[in-house]
Amino acid sequence: MRILIIGAAGMIGARLAEAIASAGTVAGRPVAAMLLADRAAPAVPGSLSGGLAAETLAADVADPAAARQLAAWRPDVVFHLAAVVSGEAEADFSKGYRVNVDATWALLEAFRLSGTAPRLVFASSLAVYGPPFPDVVPDDFALLPQSSYGAQKAIGEFLLSDFTRKGFVDGIGIRLPTIVVRPGAPNAAASGFLSGIIREPLRGVEAPLPVPRDVAAWIASPRIAVETLLHAAGLQSERIGSRRCLTGRGVSVTVGEMIEALSEVAGPAVAARIRPTEDPVVARIVRSWPRAFETAQARELGFPVDEGIRAIIEAHIAHEMGGRFVP
Ligand SMILES: NC(=O)c1ccc[n+]([C@@H]2O[C@H](COP(=O)([O-])OP(=O)(O)OC[C@H]3O[C@@H](n4cnc5c(N)ncnc54)[C@H](O)[C@@H]3O)[C@@H](O)[C@H]2O)c1
Repeated sequence: MRILIIGAAGMIGARLAEAIASAGTVAGRPVAAMLLADRAAPAVPGSLSGGLAAETLAADVADPAAARQLAAWRPDVVFHLAAVVSGEAEADFSKGYRVNVDATWALLEAFRLSGTAPRLVFASSLAVYGPPFPDVVPDDFALLPQSSYGAQKAIGEFLLSDFTRKGFVDGIGIRLPTIVVRPGAPNAAASGFLSGIIREPLRGVEAPLPVPRDVAAWIASPRIAVETLLHAAGLQSERIGSRRCLTGRGVSVTVGEMIEALSEVAGPAVAARIRPTEDPVVARIVRSWPRAFETAQARELGFPVDEGIRAIIEAHIAHEMGGRFVP
């Protein structure tokens, strides 16, 4: 099996590449070769399972020639994770459309012309939805994005579904929950504080809390995000049916519950490093997000889900912090 990851230097892409490299399989089938592409050549994963060859490529996928080069590599499975995320897509309108729409089009078109019809797993987002929301958002809720990023992901979903209907690719799009705890430096996303209030106090640093404690979010850990994409790669087309884009399974949790769980896992002194610093702009954006999703299709298709916020925090300490935090 040949695996192509586009956006392989990103937070999820790098973890996905590591997971495939160390397992040496996707959906139970051995991986012979992996091509990792991003704007700058991504790092080769540390541990490569025996016999697996990994190549890296610096490529701007919005460039049709680069997209054709990737298709010419003839992958069996493609993970399309390259994107400009929410804040940047809102601030730089042209860049958002270029990367989130033009690149998706260029890739799909390159695969249509190649005639290879690979399984293509597309990372979509909950931002395809817009308020007003019911308490629990059903799978057939209308796609009415209220941001450029959401509009661009919705366009990507429509393109993926149509190219799949025509048999040019075998696509599946997953609207990933907000990933918590996002490792590394804080990012500019409005949702960034959801990771910040766990990650920063654990390393002994104060974290601002820009919203009230009753604000809720639909979250998943980086590990479950990777497992979700791998599960999507292995699903049989007939099982997926004609609804090719679906909401990923997550955990609905309030900020208050997150702080309580942090206190239980790491102690009250760690949780006390969270400083309420209300930011009305962030609070307004976050209040416009849905609190929970039905995800019946994802459940029926056997997608994985986190146990809960406590397990997410414990896994972050174990896997990202070598088991040690600042008490
Ligand atoms: N992290 C989340 O909470 C979350 C939630 C929902 C959906 N998603 C989606 O999942 C995917 C991965 O998310 P992430 O958190 O790893 O994002 P990330 O920003 O860490 O990674 C995205 C990668 O895409 C690359 N990229 C951007 N433009 C490119 C181009 N023109 N050509 C080649 N590569 C390009 C970037 O260099 C980056 O490495 C994205 O599509 C994102 O929209 C993420």
